[in-house]
Amino acid sequence: MLGVCYYPEHWPESMWAQDAQEMAALGLKYVRIGEFAWSRIESAPGVFHFEWLDRAIATLADAGLSVIMCTPTATPPKWLIDLYPDILPVDVKTGTTRGFGSRRHYDFSSENFFREAMRITEVLGQRYGEHPAICGWQTDNELACHDTTHSYSANAKAAFQQWCQQHYGNIDNLNQAWGNVFWSMEYQNFQQIELPYLAVTETNPSHNLAYRRFSSDQVIRFHDEMIAILRRYAPNRFITHNFIPMSDTQTDNAALAKQLDFVSYDNYPLGRTDLFFANAATPNFKRYMRTGHPDYASYAFDQSRGISHGPFWIMEQQPGPVNWARHNPRPEPGMVRLWSWQAFAHGAATVCFFRWRQVPFAQEQMHAGLKRTDNSPATAYAEIQQLKQELAKLPALPETPVVAEVAIVTETVAQWVTEIERQGDSYNQQQVEFAYYSALRKLGITVDFIGQDADLSAYKLIIAPCLPIVSKAFVDRCARSNAALVFGPRSGAKTPDLTLAPNLGPGLLQQLIPVKVLSVETTRPDCHDALHFADKTYESARWREELSEHADLMVVARYHDNTPAIVQAQHNYYIGTLTCDTFLYDFFAALAKQYGITTVQLAEDLRLVRRGDLTFIFNYGATAATLNLPATTQFVVGSNQINPFDVVIYR
Ligand code: GLA
Repeated sequence: MLGVCYYPEHWPESMWAQDAQEMAALGLKYVRIGEFAWSRIESAPGVFHFEWLDRAIATLADAGLSVIMCTPTATPPKWLIDLYPDILPVDVKTGTTRGFGSRRHYDFSSENFFREAMRITEVLGQRYGEHPAICGWQTDNELACHDTTHSYSANAKAAFQQWCQQHYGNIDNLNQAWGNVFWSMEYQNFQQIELPYLAVTETNPSHNLAYRRFSSDQVIRFHDEMIAILRRYAPNRFITHNFIPMSDTQTDNAALAKQLDFVSYDNYPLGRTDLFFANAATPNFKRYMRTGHPDYASYAFDQSRGISHGPFWIMEQQPGPVNWARHNPRPEPGMVRLWSWQAFAHGAATVCFFRWRQVPFAQEQMHAGLKRTDNSPATAYAEIQQLKQELAKLPALPETPVVAEVAIVTETVAQWVTEIERQGDSYNQQQVEFAYYSALRKLGITVDFIGQDADLSAYKLIIAPCLPIVSKAFVDRCARSNAALVFGPRSGAKTPDLTLAPNLGPGLLQQLIPVKVLSVETTRPDCHDALHFADKTYESARWREELSEHADLMVVARYHDNTPAIVQAQHNYYIGTLTCDTFLYDFFAALAKQYGITTVQLAEDLRLVRRGDLTFIFNYGATAATLNLPATTQFVVGSNQINPFDVVIYR
């Protein structure tokens, strides 16, 4: 259930055997290798060097380890770039070419790169596809990280023009769909279409959305072809990819996951929390500097489980301070173990640590590993020894399902729409969704993330914090569902081409709840108005919709001026405003009670989640707490007393 990322090419061969033995002794089973080794595998066009890699795999296998092989396409070597300079992507903010010298320096629309990437994939597939020591494959590395989905290149433009032609058929349809009559933006033919960047002021939202869809499709085209090649040569091995958080990519993660056997996620809670909350309205950040926000890692775990349609892996688990965030604190002692347990609790099958040993050179020399550069064990080492012993008590855990009664409906397009059309600076779709999720998690509710195409029958409560474009098929399925349905502001407000819904917001959702959004205002994050709900007063802020009244609507909450803020028709709810965390907590607590969903009240820094017959409690806080569990409780790990940064597991 444990593994590690290893770079044999970074170390003298004389160290490999001892490394492998120590890994095995630490309880690690999987070793991921090869994802940045292109220049060592192919030193010039067609000049291959496999002997070192063969020996590295053999050394790991001799110690009883299973190898995960990667395609090395995240790092095209210098000779390849010199041969085909159009591989380099072009920055959409400046129009300048992004250079060689780090990684991910490739354009998804470069046919030269596409061909070369598939060639090296095929070469590796042929050589290692059926290798007995290799249990599975990872495609590329963190596809589209470092803002590499979008490119302003000539290749991207030509491919986008073709994409538009395929999608709109003729240019009049495109002009009509995008509303190009506005500001004389009409095109006479597809070859005239520009990329939506570097114009004088804002470019057309419809044009932007089309370009984002196209760019994401390019990533998926690349990825799906790579998977198809690997399937040919490695038919009996798993194929996965290591994903980054949705907030940091511009690719549709659900679509990217489709052809994989399972999803892997790279879990860096400290740096990611720092970036995610950098501009948040209420970060409450200090408390969580060395732990990450208690709901941040699990937010990504539950999303990963959703697009994985079952168990997922952690391919990279933060082992100590990293080097790439705005600030890079040390985790509190115990957190590496806690994060690992949290991943298992939310549905992980395996957790791999990044990386085996800190490397003394190049970009990541300040990034911790399980071992220090002098080969002494770093802090996390002992935590993994403990984890190994604890995991031995739960051998069936990887196959145990996580069962949720509550689902959040999410999709990448929602994020794109709200980034393209901000309307208010303090609207951030990911943070809106996170706030809803966090409120549910504070109530001890297990949450699934689903798309509009999901089966809704398993859920008692389904929540869409922000879903601007809804499909008719989804609305019809909602209409047949017995679950309580909650839609947040902006939901249903847009057509698929990002124009206003003709019948006003929430558009097609009016089939479920006969409310109309009469107008929208956004305000500064520090300007609140009152929101009245169930005899209490909360805040309405940042985004506020004026809602119509209707005989079939019940008003659930009102704005300061007594007009409706949240309305209900039967078991369907529409929320017209952004609000505060305490409101979300109380509102979901009330809904949970009404619709028969179990909640648990815990201290602020404790989180509870269930997997099968196991209950996990995590303490993200610096103070110990006593759990009021009955004397008959069967503890697997820990006891009634939970220490700071500790884990309790019981049946
Ligand atoms: C990412 C990458 C790794 C490494 C780590 C450092 O997750 O996949 O190659 O750069 O970050 O934290």
